[in-house]
This record gives sequence, structure tokens and C-alpha cells, in this order.
Amino acid sequence: MRTITLINGDGIGPEISKSVTDIIAAAGLDINWDIQTAGSDVIESEGVPLPDRVLKSVRANKVALKAPVTTPIGKGFRSVNVQLRKELDLYANLRPCKNLPGVKTRFENVDLVVVRENTEDLYAGVEEQVDDNTAHSIKIITRSASERICRFAFDYAVKNNRHEVCAVTKANIMKLSDGLFLQAFRAVAGEYPQITTREILVDNLCMQLVQDPTRFDVLVLPNLYGDIVSDLTAGLIGGLGVAQGANIGKDCAVFEPVHGSAPDIKGLNKANPTALLLSAVEMLKYIDEVSVAEKIEKALFKTLSDGHKTVDIGGNLSTTEFTEKIIENL
Ligand code: NAI
Repeated sequence: MRTITLINGDGIGPEISKSVTDIIAAAGLDINWDIQTAGSDVIESEGVPLPDRVLKSVRANKVALKAPVTTPIGKGFRSVNVQLRKELDLYANLRPCKNLPGVKTRFENVDLVVVRENTEDLYAGVEEQVDDNTAHSIKIITRSASERICRFAFDYAVKNNRHEVCAVTKANIMKLSDGLFLQAFRAVAGEYPQITTREILVDNLCMQLVQDPTRFDVLVLPNLYGDIVSDLTAGLIGGLGVAQGANIGKDCAVFEPVHGSAPDIKGLNKANPTALLLSAVEMLKYIDEVSVAEKIEKALFKTLSDGHKTVDIGGNLSTTEFTEKIIENL
């Protein structure tokens, strides 16, 4: 039996994790879930939000499914999510964004992929308080990390029959840091003559995405723009409740939705498990459990097409009722 790390998170994390593990079990796949807690809940007992045992577990199992973990805003400990990505060198954050059957949105035929650099930029956490009225955050961009993420984006495009990779920066203003990212993009692009390239400034990208997202295919972005743009693209297909993601490195991969811990609906049985479920479907494909992955995906799509939905996407089902419908449809 395959052992996979499960970080079941906090906020709505435990509710959607239960939904997803129940669906996978009902689909007939036995997984030994190595459950690892992290975040503020473990600080009291273990002194840190991301204990070594979590990293050890992911390193040993190579694959993890992760529900969201809350990060205190403006104070407190460093994000467990950012730390996990950094410690495990999960350098590519892959966030595909495609319309789902039965989920009506403003646009049809949205099918784009956000490839976000996951280890540096303003997320490096290099900040200083100069005095009471001034604070600095340092934006770190390196050629090696930029080339690595651009190569990932082009390889993804080739493997998945995509035609274009578009680099997103603000290199008109951050001429050195975003300029370096762009140089890396151009150097790597030369190795993939079969893929069309495009370059766009992030503000123009946002405007064009909300006008017509079908203009875009694969986007590659430094960390901060990738974080913001992928919430925007989630909004194009029905919101955070349906937006899947994966953090991929050379040695391991952590599959997690785009959304956070949604404290506003914690414990209300209202959370949409679709984003975590689709992340799990990708995880199952990654570990070569393709038939189970497809079976789950089909059951989910049928459930949504039949109009059985959670509140965030216009339905009236609770998390548990929606989960039961998917299980019936397996
Ligand atoms: P959020 O993504 O948790 O929630 C934003 C809005 O979307 C809320 O109204 C929420 O109810 C709704 N939403 C999110 N997921 C949903 C779902 N599955 N079903 C139905 N509605 C859903 O963003 P927010 O409120 O800015 O962040 C909350 C916490 O989550 C923060 O501490 C933040 O740092 C953390 N966070 C963690 C992430 C992770 O673990 N990878 C990613 C993003 C944020």
C-alpha cells in the first residue's frame, strides 16, 4: 500500500481533507495516509509551526497532499506554506485553470496554466524595520531560479501540447530584478523553437485576463505576481473553491489548492472540497494511479453537471452532502 503524507491543515482544512480521503477510499484506492499536523496548533506542543517530522515525512514519501494552513497577517510566525516550499525546494507552483462542467462563469473555454516561481522574490522573507516609519522588503531574483522555472514552463508546454509560453513581469519598473527574470526567459526560450513566446507586463495581463482569458495559454511568473494572478484566474472559473494546484520539485511534490484556510466558513460544513479534490486527482496521476484519478474526476464532473454544488458556486449542498453525491457517482 502506498504511503502519502497528508497535511490536513487548519480552518476548513480538516473538513475538506476528510471529504477527499473519503472519496479516494470509496474509489477503491487504499492509501496509508501519514497525517502530519502543522501551523499554529502545533506551536504550543512542539515550539515551531513546521516541525522537522513534517519535512521528514514528505522527503520519505516523496508525495504529499496538503490542505491550507493559516498564516498570521502582519505579525507572528513565517508562513508554513512558504517555508515548506523553500525547505523542500518545491520550485514550481503549477496552477491550471480550466472551466469545469456545470460551473457557469462569465467566460467559456478558459484553459490556461499559471506557472509560479516558488522559492524567491519578495517571499524570501528578507525584511528589515529601518525605523518606526520605514520598512524594507528585499526582492530577490536569481538567474538560476528564473531559468529553472522558465525551463519547467516550456517543458510543461511541450509535454501537454501547449503552444505558447508568456513571461509576466514588471521589468519596465524593476529593471534589474524583473529584467533578470526576462533575460532568463529569453535564454531558455531559445531551446524550445516549437513554442511561441510572448512577454507582457503584469498590469496589462490582469486587464486582458478579465477581458478575455482565452488569449492566454501558459503563463510563467515570479513568485508574487504568480500568487496574485492565480487568485484572479481562479475567479475566472468559479472561484477559490475550485482552483487546484501543485508544488513540484526535483525530489518531491506537494499537491494543494490555491485557496487558504477560509476562517470565515470554518466548521460550518460549507467549504467546497473541489479544489483539494482536483489537486488530489493530479497527485494520483503523478503517482501513476491514472484510472482511479479519472474515475474520481468523472464522478466529480457528473455531480457538478447534474447541478449538485456547494454554496460558493451557486448550489445549496453542504460539504458532506456534496461529498456523498460524488461517492454515489463513482
Ligand atoms: P482564503 O483563500 O482562505 O479565502 C478567501 C475567500 O474564499 C473566503 O471568503 C473563503 O470563504 C473563500 N474560500 C476559500 N476556499 C474556499 C472553499 N474551498 N470553499 C468555499 N469558499 C472558499 O483567503 P484568506 O481569507 O485571504 O486567507 C485565510 C488564511 O489562509 C490566511 O492565514 C492565509 O495566509 C492562508 N492561506 C494559506 C494558503 C495555503 O495554505 N496554501 C494559501 C492562501 C492563504
